[in-house]
Amino acid sequence: MDGRALAARIRSEVAEAARELGSLRLATILVGDDPASQLYISRKHDAAREVGIEPLDHRLPASVSQAELLELVSRLNADESIDGVLPQLPLPEGLDEPGVIATVDPAKDVDGFHPLNAGRLYLGRPTLVPATPRGCLALLVEAGVQLAGARAVVVGRSVIVGKPVAHLLLQADATVTVCHSRTVELARHTLDADVLVVAAGIPALVGPDMVKQGAAVVDVGQNHTAAGLVGDVDPGAADVAAHLTPVPGGVGPMTIAMLLDNTIRAAKYRRGLLAFPPA
Ligand code: GUN
Repeated sequence: MDGRALAARIRSEVAEAARELGSLRLATILVGDDPASQLYISRKHDAAREVGIEPLDHRLPASVSQAELLELVSRLNADESIDGVLPQLPLPEGLDEPGVIATVDPAKDVDGFHPLNAGRLYLGRPTLVPATPRGCLALLVEAGVQLAGARAVVVGRSVIVGKPVAHLLLQADATVTVCHSRTVELARHTLDADVLVVAAGIPALVGPDMVKQGAAVVDVGQNHTAAGLVGDVDPGAADVAAHLTPVPGGVGPMTIAMLLDNTIRAAKYRRGLLAFPPA
């Protein structure tokens, strides 16, 4: 499953939609100087520019107060020229992350993390859906993997990936099991999976001996190790699986492509081309 190729196709569709919509602006907020977050933000900005979305770069020191941060979010919410508002996570220690996420206008919440959007996903009436989970599903669909009736196992229960991807799989009529750090005998679950999504943040957590013959495996891991960037799945799993997303070049490029696609959706809300449901 080639994330680079599919992401390139989505980006070109986004570029066409952006041309039709006219001026689009995505505001990001980076608090503090975490090097990984700086890299992610610069990648998001480059990708936005490339498809004709203007990135607005807001940076605040790690010492910023919660009130000042919320003030900036509110200002960006109220700015009629801005389509999307994205506070880069994680926020530095001492700031109330859920409070910041809940302050973003749900119709500009291109990350899909606002409780209203998370709740709508849970209810099966999605609006703005988190980018990485959308990328996982798009890769599976592109590979022609049958999801209806499939046994899907998600390893990881984060708010950014594990929980939303489980809901998307459920909505696609898979039978979904969510495993996590307290799961006993993880391999018993993963060996049963026709579709396995691993988002645990542990290098090579899932080895070839934990994968069912012919399974479709999506590796969401982005672990920076001495050996470079590695996933949560041992690449040897490719010998057992029918499909495996590589790291790098799998889910990573899809996340940014889906963020841009979410920005198009938010732009349609702002222009009244799509109605944003109140709840
Ligand atoms: N940090 C890690 N993943 C993400 C993401 O998808 N969005 C934001 N805003 N921050 C992140």
